[in-house]
This record gives sequence, structure tokens and C-alpha cells, in this order.
Amino acid sequence: MRMKIMMGGALLAALSLNAFAEDKALAPAHAAISVMQSGEVSFSKDVMPILQDYCVSCHHPSPTSKGFAKSGLDLTSYEGLMKGTKFGKVVVPGDSQASTFTKLLTGTNKGLKMPMGLNASGTLDRQYILTLRKWVKQGAKNN
Ligand code: HEC
Repeated sequence: MRMKIMMGGALLAALSLNAFAEDKALAPAHAAISVMQSGEVSFSKDVMPILQDYCVSCHHPSPTSKGFAKSGLDLTSYEGLMKGTKFGKVVVPGDSQASTFTKLLTGTNKGLKMPMGLNASGTLDRQYILTLRKWVKQGAKNN
């Protein structure tokens, strides 16, 4: 039952992306749907495409990259993500509720929300959030 609801949400989201005919946005949506069907989340196939589309613009090693300049967080690689910010780690493998990386996506962390300024509500699509959370829960593997 729960699975059905999640699938429905993913399909709806994929359809609404389709309506905007954003080819770039469709690739991670497809990956997210396959994640929900198969269960195991892959860092390279599922997580990285989302980071590339929504996070890397502000989180790559460059002084003009806002998020990197302010926090030191480099989201261009697994190593960068696991290293975290200059203040500490953002991923606690197995615990998405203790991981800043996934907590910031819903804005439950002291009002700070990522990605910064994405759209009016500033929130990543639900199926991407679920994919990232699931990857952390499954142990944040370099798979
Ligand atoms: C428009 C620019 C921008 C985008 C896009 C962006 N970030 Fe950030 N990010 C920032 C800035 C700026 C900071 C530093 C915030 C601060 O310390 O006040 C930051 C900080 C962070 C931090 C560290 C917070 C802490 O506790 O120090 C995490 C984790 C993070 N971002 C994750 C993400 C993720 C995941 C995405 C993509 C879903 C993303 N960011 C997209 C600008 C951005």
C-alpha cells in the first residue's frame, strides 16, 4: 500500500516534469523511479545526477562557488560529500535524520534550506529527497 502511494507520487512528479519538457530534469526523475522499484540506491547512478543538477553549481571547489566558499562543502564527488564542511561531517551513514545533508532538504535545520533559492518554496522534488535519504539510510556507500 505504502509502495503504491510512493510510486504514484513519483509518476505524478515525472508527469509534471514532462509538462515543462525539461529534458535535463527528466533524467534524475527516471533514476528516482527505478530506485523505488529496485530498492538499492546507487551513489553514481542515482545520487550524483541529483547533486549535479541541484547542488554542484554552488558546491564545487572555487572561491566564486557560494556554498563551497562559505562552508567548504564540495559536492562534486563522493569523497567531498563524506568529508563534509570545514565545520564537520554532513553525512552520518545509516541515519538520515542525524545527517545535515538530508535534514537541510526539508528546512527542518534551523531554517537553513538546500538548495538555496531553487524555486519559490525552495524545496527539492519529493522523489529526490526520498532518494537521497534512502541512500544515507542504506549506509551512504560509494556504489
Ligand atoms: C544557490 C547556491 C546553493 C545551492 C544550489 C546549494 N547550496 Fe548548499 N550551501 C550554500 C551556501 C551559501 C551554504 C553556506 C550556508 C551557511 O553557512 O550559512 C551552503 C551550505 C550547505 C551545507 C552545510 C550546512 C552546514 O551545516 O554548515 C550543506 C549540507 C549543503 N549546503 C547541502 C546542499 C545540497 C545537498 C544542495 C543540493 C540539493 C545544495 N546545498 C545546493 C549554497 C547553495
